[in-house]
Amino acid sequence: MTTSEVLLISGSLRAGSSNETALRTAQAVAPEAIRTVLYEGLAALPHFNPDDDHDPLPAPVAELRTAIAAATAVLICAPEYAGTLPGAFKNLLDWTVGGTEICDKPVAWLNVAPPGRGGGAAATLRTVLGYTGAAIVEQACIQLPVGREAVGPDGTVTDPAVRERLREVLTTLATASPASL
Ligand SMILES: Cc1cc2nc3c(=O)[nH]c(=O)nc-3n(C[C@H](O)[C@H](O)[C@H](O)COP(=O)(O)O)c2cc1C
Repeated sequence: MTTSEVLLISGSLRAGSSNETALRTAQAVAPEAIRTVLYEGLAALPHFNPDDDHDPLPAPVAELRTAIAAATAVLICAPEYAGTLPGAFKNLLDWTVGGTEICDKPVAWLNVAPPGRGGGAAATLRTVLGYTGAAIVEQACIQLPVGREAVGPDGTVTDPAVRERLREVLTTLATASPASL
């Protein structure tokens, strides 16, 4: 029986993205009780403008906020660009600030960069999510390198250890209680 829903958001627009690959793998290994939804609207979001942050919202923004509201928890996987988050993904986060949907929502992120890399993106995420009031699930925020060689013909990571870690992350995130964070 489905009891929870985890919204998966990739911070990369790149075809063949390793971040999206990690999230597609998470979808493939999700326990039966966890429904996963991959957000696919990043490219359609308009540039954030406070003047537009009111009803009726631009349709892609309304869809984003509805998707966040519907989810029990959110799992983010974003690359590091120039020491921080990609602009397109920071734009998405800016659109969440004016809504209340992510407030107190359990959120975690995966860092799929090689060891020692990607820390700038994670640090920015922590800062920005702090402003949004998201409930960061520390145990589910992990570094899990995903190299291109690790991807199988179905477009997901083949390494059983990585797949198991992704299952654990989803379970931890989906069962996190905001009150205990
Ligand atoms: C414009 C640009 C800037 C980047 N800056 C960094 C960086 O500061 N630190 C880093 O570790 N990797 C950096 N990278 C490497 C990306 O994080 C890496 O290619 C990552 O795999 C991209 O994720 P994706 O495969 O999901 O698109 C940069 C890549 C690009 C295109």
